[in-house]
Amino acid sequence: MNSTEPKLVSLCNPVLDEAEKEAVLHVIDGGWLSMGERVSAFEDAFAALHEVDQALAVDSCTAGLHLCLAATGIGPGDEVLVPSLTFVATVNAVLYVGARPIFVDIQSLATPHISIEEAEDKCTSRTRAVIVMHYGGYLVDLPAWRAFADRRGLVLIEDAAHAPGVREVGQWGDVAAFSFFANKNMTTAEGGVVFARDPAVLSRMRTMRSHGMTTGTLERHRGHASSYDVTILGYNYRMDEIRAAIGLVQLEKLPRLNAQRNRLASRYRQRLAETVPGVSVPFGAEQETAAHIMAVLLPEGADRENVMKRMRMEAIQTSIHYPPVHRFDFYRRSFREVSLPVTDRFCAKELTLPLHPGLGEKELERVITALGHSL
Ligand SMILES: Cc1ncc(COP(=O)(O)O)c(C=O)c1O
Repeated sequence: MNSTEPKLVSLCNPVLDEAEKEAVLHVIDGGWLSMGERVSAFEDAFAALHEVDQALAVDSCTAGLHLCLAATGIGPGDEVLVPSLTFVATVNAVLYVGARPIFVDIQSLATPHISIEEAEDKCTSRTRAVIVMHYGGYLVDLPAWRAFADRRGLVLIEDAAHAPGVREVGQWGDVAAFSFFANKNMTTAEGGVVFARDPAVLSRMRTMRSHGMTTGTLERHRGHASSYDVTILGYNYRMDEIRAAIGLVQLEKLPRLNAQRNRLASRYRQRLAETVPGVSVPFGAEQETAAHIMAVLLPEGADRENVMKRMRMEAIQTSIHYPPVHRFDFYRRSFREVSLPVTDRFCAKELTLPLHPGLGEKELERVITALGHSL
């Protein structure tokens, strides 16, 4: 790199330091690598932070969403209401269990959450579940969705990939799934956690997580069990000790990391309003959030491709959250008739600016300035 070139402002960066390195070394020195005591400790700590009874660690949020659907008995012939404004994994999980995703539009450009009114309209006698996604770390109106699910007799699934550490996240859904992918608010490189209100569902998830087996490797290793039966179709969705060790350290940092993200998001809101008022920010400044991403909406008529290109030339990474799922080639083939005008408008205007706890004040100013003259 030429020394006169500006330093890259990256979209997201994990915050890892000596504590995570030490935790990983401890696992290696200890000699037990697969799911064991650290995974249990991580589950307990994650559940405690979110004030739920129990959590189950898995190897990704995608696996977690699959378990949420499979363990609540969703399958062929069932319909599941889903947003299209989400990462494709949310919808893929519905296909994994052989159910049919029913795409629902978002509420508005200012509140890009799955619309409860449209969800009502799209319910049929086959509707069995709804997946809500806490876009950007802002929680959907959970009491309203709980009432909707109860009234309709549906399973309420929270895709909480963007929202670890937010008050009440995962407490209203029948089940919920979190992600610890490398770009998330806390990371284990790859990983996830699931919650379930009903202990019977959680128990099914636990069995499904490990091939449907009735005992675990550690139990057998310790002589607590000598064999196992397989009682249900299972998968290998286990977390390992290395990831759990990283997760324990990250979890301790999470409140501080989320607070720093919130400070930066507030600063963005203020500076955007002052210098590029044509750019709007979804949700309200006062709304509680994990501030997972800095999503903004470009003014009408802005050429987003060009804006991204110009910002890239100024060494600033940007992204789009998300290309709508129903527009992907794979989904278009089966969902040609789907019409989601508000989602389409949002996704055409959305631009994601760099946001991570290590983003400096000067870098944030560079982003604002670059955005201003890229428009
Ligand atoms: C909204 C949403 N759902 C699900 C996932 C899938 O998470 P994972 O990568 O842990 O499988 C992600 C991750 O990118 C996501 O952002």
